[in-house]
Amino acid sequence: MICFLLSLFSQIFQSGWTGVNERTFIAIKPDAVQRKLVGQIIQRFEKKGFKLVALKLVQASEDLLLDHYWDLRNKTFFSELIHYMRSGPVVAMVWQGLNVVKTARVILGETNPADSLPGTIRGDYCVDVGKNVIHGSDSVQSAQKEIFLWFKHGELQLWEHHSTPWIY
Ligand code: RTP
Ligand code: MG
Repeated sequence: MICFLLSLFSQIFQSGWTGVNERTFIAIKPDAVQRKLVGQIIQRFEKKGFKLVALKLVQASEDLLLDHYWDLRNKTFFSELIHYMRSGPVVAMVWQGLNVVKTARVILGETNPADSLPGTIRGDYCVDVGKNVIHGSDSVQSAQKEIFLWFKHGELQLWEHHSTPWIY
């Protein structure tokens, strides 16, 4: 019975995060904030047709970053990564739309800017994997975890964009 209820709850909960309601967590990293790239990066997601659901400027704590990058804790670059992410404020955002998780990763480019095509954010704005200007969730599951890590429930805005019928 408990398993059934948990499964039902999970299905109801996740159904709000699929199709046009899919959400991803995007963070503009400290180097991009310092280099005044925030406006241009946000514009790429807006112009694509995604909807901004949450946005804030955050000085991330070490605990938050350890949780966020927990999967990478055994990598040689881990402490360098945490230091980089704590070197200044980060613009934390939630974007919503059809296939937004996968599409945002395409818009970002590859992890290493050297492998990123021109036209992608990392392909256009950076050269070093250790200063690669932006983060994007790598799956719907990661997005759910990261959104709950970075945002309180009340910080996510439910609103209808006037151009929605022209996008879908
Ligand atoms: P992100 O999580 O930041 O969106 O990046 P990603 O999925 O493309 O890459 P991931 O493997 O999750 O790595 C997280 C971040 O760690 C830094 N990194 N440095 N020195 C290195 O070899 C190295 N490899 C990764 C990058 O800042 C990368 O975005
Ligand atoms: Mg990643």
